[in-house]
Amino acid sequence: MRSEHPKPERPQRDVDFSGPSRHGHATGEHSVTVSHGMKPMVPFRVCVLTLFPAMFPGPLGHSLAGRAQAEGRWSLETVDIRVDDAPFGGGPGMVLRADVVDAALQATRRPEIPFVYLTPRGQVLTQARIRALSERNGLVVLCGRFEGVDQRVLERHGAEELSIGDYVLSGGEPAAMVLVDAIIRLLPGVVGHAESLREESFERGLLEYPHYTRPQVWAGQAVPEVLISGHHQRVAAWRQAASEAITRERRPDLWIRYQEGRV
Ligand SMILES: C[S@@+](CC[C@H](N)C(=O)[O-])C[C@H]1O[C@@H](n2cnc3c(N)ncnc32)[C@H](O)[C@@H]1O
Repeated sequence: MRSEHPKPERPQRDVDFSGPSRHGHATGEHSVTVSHGMKPMVPFRVCVLTLFPAMFPGPLGHSLAGRAQAEGRWSLETVDIRVDDAPFGGGPGMVLRADVVDAALQATRRPEIPFVYLTPRGQVLTQARIRALSERNGLVVLCGRFEGVDQRVLERHGAEELSIGDYVLSGGEPAAMVLVDAIIRLLPGVVGHAESLREESFERGLLEYPHYTRPQVWAGQAVPEVLISGHHQRVAAWRQAASEAITRERRPDLWIRYQEGRV
């Protein structure tokens, strides 16, 4: 069963609303939002295949992602795949059936939209991969449960297998939320200050520097003097040095890549 998740109501506090007026209308398969004086905004289309559609939008309906959905920057559809069977070859647990997953994919896939299966045995997600996916026009995401999904349907549809880390969840739904959340914040206009994205962890191959705000002295600790100097170049140099020190200490793997210019 397919369900479109309605846009959440526009929240009271609205950030980064890029057009004075807009309305949505359907053109064939695509919902297009028009803002006067700007190019039409085609939403990034997310389709999630899951045994538990009621889990969505979940956290994606709140804060930045919820606002972006209300503004028509992305859309969400879930497809209920109610299908599992015992594995050939024996062993515990159940496996999602190829024929039913295939039927759901036939109904939802478009050649131009990437198809991702979330699995602990996939390539571990990186910010670079997230950015590349955010530059496409949508995503079909298959959430596994139990032992996983029949291999044949993954191969037939050329699934890109992605993992959110070296640990095992009970299902792909939380992983799908992680993946979609990370993509949405990179869509044009979603984060108010685009330059803040450029300074974030992983974007330049480094972890981010520490942040401080008021009060200037708290629990006997003052914020670093340079940050209240108002001297932009010294602040930038301090942040660069802090980023490098944190990366060197916490992530020697990233540090080596950064030094070699492989970012
Ligand atoms: C219990 S897990 C299956 C684990 C599988 N038998 C294995 O050993 O690799 C059920 C589902 O959760 C999802 N999942 C679990 N851990 C994940 C991870 N680290 N990244 C992405 N998806 C994950 C996958 O969709 C998987 O099919």
